[in-house]
Amino acid sequence: AMRAELNRLVNQVHDSDARKYFQTEMDGFFILYTRYLQEKAKGTKIDWEKVKSPSAEHLVQYSDLSTTADPKNLSKLAVLKLNGGLGTTMGCVGPKSAIEVRDGMTFLDLSVRQVEYLNKQYDVSVPFILMNSFNTDEETKRIVQKYATHNIEILTFNQSRHPRINKDSLLPMPRSPTSPVEQWYPPGHGDLYESLFNSGLLDQLIAQGKEYLFISNVDNLGATVDLNILNHMDETDAEFIMEVTDKTKADIKGGTLIDYEGHIRLLEIAQVPGEHVEDFKSIKKFKIFNTNNLWVNLKAVKRILEESDGPMDLEIIVNNKTTDSGEKVIQLETAVGAAIKHFKNAHGVNVPRNRFLPVKSTSDLFLVTSDLYSLNHGELQMNPKRMFNTTPLVKLGDHFKKVNNFLGRFRSIPHILELDHLTVTGDVTFGSNVQLRGTVIIVANHGDRIDIPSGAILENKVVSGNLRI
Ligand code: UTP
Repeated sequence: AMRAELNRLVNQVHDSDARKYFQTEMDGFFILYTRYLQEKAKGTKIDWEKVKSPSAEHLVQYSDLSTTADPKNLSKLAVLKLNGGLGTTMGCVGPKSAIEVRDGMTFLDLSVRQVEYLNKQYDVSVPFILMNSFNTDEETKRIVQKYATHNIEILTFNQSRHPRINKDSLLPMPRSPTSPVEQWYPPGHGDLYESLFNSGLLDQLIAQGKEYLFISNVDNLGATVDLNILNHMDETDAEFIMEVTDKTKADIKGGTLIDYEGHIRLLEIAQVPGEHVEDFKSIKKFKIFNTNNLWVNLKAVKRILEESDGPMDLEIIVNNKTTDSGEKVIQLETAVGAAIKHFKNAHGVNVPRNRFLPVKSTSDLFLVTSDLYSLNHGELQMNPKRMFNTTPLVKLGDHFKKVNNFLGRFRSIPHILELDHLTVTGDVTFGSNVQLRGTVIIVANHGDRIDIPSGAILENKVVSGNLRI
């Protein structure tokens, strides 16, 4: 029935090029869907007894890499940012990468600057690639068009557009290829390999002599090109390197590298049997997690795709959603890091935490927009005046959850060089030039509002109720 529905959709496209493209997308979707049904029938997740920590050969310490910083491999490199997601958690309507972080520059601007500087520094021309989705393509192109005259080649391609599936009927939601956007979804960043191939860009890069692709989340401001890792990849003939970092209690949801029957694999929380989820979250048993900074060999990608004759076989993550109109739907998604199991000499490199500086919430945004960091050629550097090399623990409440509300609540972002811990709940606003030090807790009870006046200095302080300071 699914196949018939998909054919019906394809047959409604009349332009032959557009139709061929759409057909490829629907074929990719159908393979994913068929795998999903097979897995559902088998009902097996993973055999927990076989899950082991990665062996020493599969997990190299960053500090053990040689540090020659030799740029010799840069001519073989391309940089790609995953830019298909909407920052729904932060209430963004457009791409998350369009949020301004510092000095009027968005995530996109900062990553363009980083690569532009790299090109200038080493007199190379590393291409900068964006994987967009139908949700992010338009606004992204608008932002990057200003770099047309810069010393940087910006390439974009779109990931696939898949039909959302009605949870009860297991049939596609859209009735027409032009059905509204709410009826489609981008199938997760694991779609990268297939989309890179379908767009023709994979072949184009290989033809240009590019061998390595450095992939990262566009919101990870710590994901800069690292020559030590690039050279290590070259020396060890590794077709895939995953940057992992030490897990803290705040990172319990991230995927982790495991040894499964002697093979390296990414284990995501979605694959863990319910009774072992607490085990999975433990930072003792699983000490590291995936930063999603990945280095892949382009020719190997091509080989694996040709062998699999369709999308790469990656573990399916089922995402349950309810649409605005109340319909229960499922989305079948995959993760880019799950591909590690298909590559030769693949392994993890345990990198310092500063290579993982993501913005998943407005609390993260608070940190990266503050004086804790300064900008250096698009790269964020922790202010040397910070006494400890750790970032403060910041928890902003629901009133701050959406980017617009967040921005409206600060006249300027407080000074936090000496902050350890900040919790804010309720209707709270901040004037300009506020200083926060040590542990500060501000709680406005329901119906109350607290306005922190401009110039206020709060040090190890609890402000609550309708108490004014
Ligand atoms: P995440 O899935 O972690 O989510 O994406 P997110 O977009 O940061 O935030 P929420 O959950 O919507 O609030 C990690 C990276 O992968 C990209 C995102 O743009 C982000 O850079 N991504 C995600 C894609 O490129 N395609 C997808 O289908 C999903």
